[in-house]
Amino acid sequence: MGKIIRGTFLNPLSHDQIQILQSGFMRIDDDGRIESISSQHLPGKGGNYEFIDFENLLIIPGLIDTHTHLSQFGFAGIGNLPLLPWLNKYTFPEEMKYRDTELAYRRALSFFQRCLNLGTTTVVAYITAHVEATHAAFGAAEKTGIRAFLGQVLMDRNAPPELCVSAKSALPQVEALIKTWHQKNDRLHFVSTPRFAISCTAELLVLAGDLARNYDLPLQTHISENLDEISETLKLYPGNKDYLEVYERYGCIGEFSLLGHGIHLTLGEQHRIKDAGASVVHCPTSNRFLGSGALPYREMVNRGVKIALGTDVAAGYDLSMLHEAREAIETSKTHNMILTALGRPVENAMSIAEALYLSTLGGAIALRKENSLGNFAEGKWADFVVLDDLHALPFKEEVSEHDSAIERLSRVLYRPFGGTVHSTWVGGKSIYNSKGAST
Ligand code: GUN
Ligand code: ZN
Repeated sequence: MGKIIRGTFLNPLSHDQIQILQSGFMRIDDDGRIESISSQHLPGKGGNYEFIDFENLLIIPGLIDTHTHLSQFGFAGIGNLPLLPWLNKYTFPEEMKYRDTELAYRRALSFFQRCLNLGTTTVVAYITAHVEATHAAFGAAEKTGIRAFLGQVLMDRNAPPELCVSAKSALPQVEALIKTWHQKNDRLHFVSTPRFAISCTAELLVLAGDLARNYDLPLQTHISENLDEISETLKLYPGNKDYLEVYERYGCIGEFSLLGHGIHLTLGEQHRIKDAGASVVHCPTSNRFLGSGALPYREMVNRGVKIALGTDVAAGYDLSMLHEAREAIETSKTHNMILTALGRPVENAMSIAEALYLSTLGGAIALRKENSLGNFAEGKWADFVVLDDLHALPFKEEVSEHDSAIERLSRVLYRPFGGTVHSTWVGGKSIYNSKGAST
């Protein structure tokens, strides 16, 4: 049976355009795709429709976390160090625990469940170097019903030997993962995942790029997050004019590339990323936690670079994309304050609507899935989050009719406390409801 959903819809259309339907109706077909979205109650295309009335609650597209690490969630909240010592002291020892496949499956289940509880309907995650842990993570994603883009982490140097796999050994492992899981259904996807240039030889980067092209996969990696990382990369790869050139040279850059962080990219690198159609994934919480820097967001958008948003757990200390959207706005203000202090010109900081765009349609575009995900449009999957902003109100009195939908969303971003995520829907089905489970 199809469904007709009523509520207050916030529908991002582009960076600076958002459609608001104060009392809107979304009609969903039997398969879970959107048939129409309108401010009028249009008759269905025949067949039966269940009417679900959320009255005045807010409805946003499903949140897309475009960069996070499943295997790091266990140490979220600790590890205040710069990137490279942080990897050695906290990250690699934690990732080694995933040699235990039962632990990997158990943790993956609760990780994906928490994503859903927080309104994330699509998650793009690094697993570990362990092929079995990656199979387990796919199995857990399938069980929870979340959309998951997952990758076995590829490393062949500068990491504990247990976490390193040569290109030759990695190829059959990755091919088995692709064969078993990639597009097994509309929700599961494999991602080519070279961790970053420091932990990959040229041979492994070539393999990662070939996999992305040959199997039409996204490729995720890290770039220009930290100044020591950049100089170490250029030492390991002499003869390159900048960090991006290393990835370009070995075939890792194209429309398929999801480049985590990108804080310190030069102007030239930003232009080349734009020309290649690759995306930068902004990870503001992580960038501050590790003291990495503040992304020059507005400048990059003005230069036409595609940007998405990611929690980057565990350098980011939470899986909430609502928190992350707020942090993106606050980082943009901080960046402006720095520019002002330096006597440089300043443009508008990121708006609430832009933060919602980055958390939804921006992610879908980075994944090249904007025809099926990211906002409310005919033919896309009905992935959405119902927000009960009464819980975000300091005195939990009535939501005022004078508050605009954007002001109400602002309150949710800044105060996303217990019960604010009322329910999370993937492909027209409710797979988390705050009445039935706890965050
Ligand atoms: N660069 C390489 N690996 C990582 C990682 O796991 N987290 C972050 N934040 N940066 C990285
Ligand atoms: Zn990361």
